[in-house]
Amino acid sequence: MLYAHPNPNQSKINRHMALAGNALDHVQVRDLYESYPDFHVDAAAEQKSLKEAQVVVFQFPIYWFNAPSIIREWQDTVLSRGFAFGPGGTALQGKRFMLAVTTGGGKPSYAEGQPHGAPIEDYLRTFEQTARFCGMNLLEPFIVQGVGSMTAKDVDDTLEAYKTRLSMIARETS
Ligand SMILES: Cc1cc2nc3c(=O)[nH]c(=O)nc-3n(C[C@H](O)[C@H](O)[C@H](O)COP(=O)(O)O)c2cc1C
Repeated sequence: MLYAHPNPNQSKINRHMALAGNALDHVQVRDLYESYPDFHVDAAAEQKSLKEAQVVVFQFPIYWFNAPSIIREWQDTVLSRGFAFGPGGTALQGKRFMLAVTTGGGKPSYAEGQPHGAPIEDYLRTFEQTARFCGMNLLEPFIVQGVGSMTAKDVDDTLEAYKTRLSMIARETS
C-alpha cells in the first residue's frame, strides 16, 4: 500500500486508515512522505517492493481533484519503460490495483453544476488508466467523501469497512 499524506498529524482519517492497513497480515504500508521528504523517490527500492506485491493500493486524500504530488512523482520515477510498460516492461502485469481516496467535499457536491463539478470517479480515471496501461487489473475503489463532517463513529465505521475490504482482497489473493 502506497500511502501519501503531506500533513499526517492533521489527518482525521487517512492516518488511521494507513495504521489499520498496517496492522493487517499481508499488508505492507509504504509511507511516501515519510520515506521521501526530499521527493527523491528510490525507484529501485519501489520496484523491488512492487515485484513482491500481488495487489497495489494507492491511499491518499484528494488534493485539487488529484493526488498529493508525491504520488505523481512516484509514478514518474517508478513506472519506467522496461519495468512497467514497453518492451520487457511486464513487472506489473496481472497484479491488482485499488485506489483508496478521501474527499473533503460530500458526495452531493460531486455532481455537474455543483462545486466539485463531477462524480469523484471521473477524477480517478488517470490513476486507473495508468494501472490499466501497465497491465494491472482494477479493483473497485474505496471512496470516503465528506470527511470534514464525519463524526467519530463515522470514522470508526469507515475504518472497519476498510479493514474488511483489505482483508477480503488479501483472502481472494492468497
Ligand atoms: C491542498 C488541499 C487541497 C484539497 N483539495 C480538495 C479537493 O479538490 N476536493 C475535495 O473534496 N477536498 C479537497 N481537500 C480536502 C481533503 O481532501 C480532505 O481534507 C481529506 O480528504 C481529509 O482526509 P484527512 O483527514 O486524512 O486529511 C483539499 C485539502 C487540501 C489541504
